[in-house]
Amino acid sequence: MVNPSLATSPLHTSDSPLLEVENLQVFYRTVSGLARAVDGVDLTVRRGEILGLAGESGCGKSTLAGALLGLIRPPGYIAGGRVLLRPSGREPVDLLRVDDGTLRSIRWRHLSYIPQGSMNSLNPVMRIVDQFVDVMAEHGTASREEARDTVPSLLQQVGLGGHVARMYPHELSGGMKQRVIIAMAIALKPDLVIADEPTTALDVNVQRVMIQTLAELRDRLGVSLIIVTHDMAVHAELVDRVAVMYAGKVVEVAGVRQIFANPRHPYTQGLIGAIPRVGGERKRLEGIQGNAPSPRDWPTGCRFHPRCSHVLPVCRSEVPIMRQIQSGGAEKQPDSGLVACHLYAAAGSEVSA
Ligand SMILES: Nc1ncnc2c1ncn2[C@@H]1O[C@H](COP(=O)(O)OP(=O)(O)OP(=O)(O)O)[C@@H](O)[C@H]1O
Ligand code: SF4
Ligand SMILES: [Mg+2]
Repeated sequence: MVNPSLATSPLHTSDSPLLEVENLQVFYRTVSGLARAVDGVDLTVRRGEILGLAGESGCGKSTLAGALLGLIRPPGYIAGGRVLLRPSGREPVDLLRVDDGTLRSIRWRHLSYIPQGSMNSLNPVMRIVDQFVDVMAEHGTASREEARDTVPSLLQQVGLGGHVARMYPHELSGGMKQRVIIAMAIALKPDLVIADEPTTALDVNVQRVMIQTLAELRDRLGVSLIIVTHDMAVHAELVDRVAVMYAGKVVEVAGVRQIFANPRHPYTQGLIGAIPRVGGERKRLEGIQGNAPSPRDWPTGCRFHPRCSHVLPVCRSEVPIMRQIQSGGAEKQPDSGLVACHLYAAAGSEVSA
């Protein structure tokens, strides 16, 4: 829940999404051909929401996140699309078309990043406070002295004592390092934080810290988050809406309850079917048959068709368009209840996002 005091401000009542991704394409040139890692993605992020980006390894999640952050480097390149960010207090910007100076002024202040394996991104030979000051002085408006003074309170916001500022990374536990990384990501009060696999490779206790801290941030600061993870249990605990990616495309977007109670796309059904249920009825996990395809040679038609147990003749030749399924309630949101599957051809209305 967004903090009610923040929810009444214009920032949090705006109907226009914070981020709109339109037909984004990101390819890699490789010796064995062009890898179409992200191949026509449409997505929106609302203000103050936590959007989960799900899908198995290699489906393009990190490439999509990297494109939003301006981090795609050769052999990767942006092959097409638009990424419109509406930073608070500034004109909207297309993140794919801004110059380096504008992008620098947006990073950390409006858009920040918790990278995959972020615990290792702290500099081992610098005190925590100096790492904050470097980021804040370069991207913010405060002087180094002013930035230094705010570090203890930033650490307190993520449940750490102010004394942690004077410590070196090796003096911190895994959970403390994760909190430091989160505090750094929110140091300049960004509109949007993108966290790539924030819980992967962490022990269960540190995972819990990470999930609780991220959820509290949204509640307290109203910051929007994109949580990129293949771990459906993290989506279930943390996010509001889930966008499911398969083979470089988004195939379903729905509220988290809808996704878990009534997944529509056969691929999403497979992802949910593969989650073990604690205390639930003992049955064989269904999962998804076959292997993920290569981005150098996506299957024709619906890219999921070689693995789909519901496949229809049309699936082999025609790419299913995104449709909105009207089922009432929250699902009537224009960016929810979306599915790209021929099974729903008669049930939904065509949408471009
Ligand atoms: N630098 C690169 N050069 C060539 N191909 C790449 C490069 N980076 C990623 N790819 C390819 O792009 C596809 C998407 O990769 P990406 O890392 O975005 O997937 P992901 O969904 O984040 O996977 P994971 O869950 O394993 O992190 C993969 O097939 C990958 O091999
Ligand atoms: S479009 Fe066809 S192959 Fe693809 S998920 Fe739907 S039923 Fe399966
Ligand atoms: Mg990844």
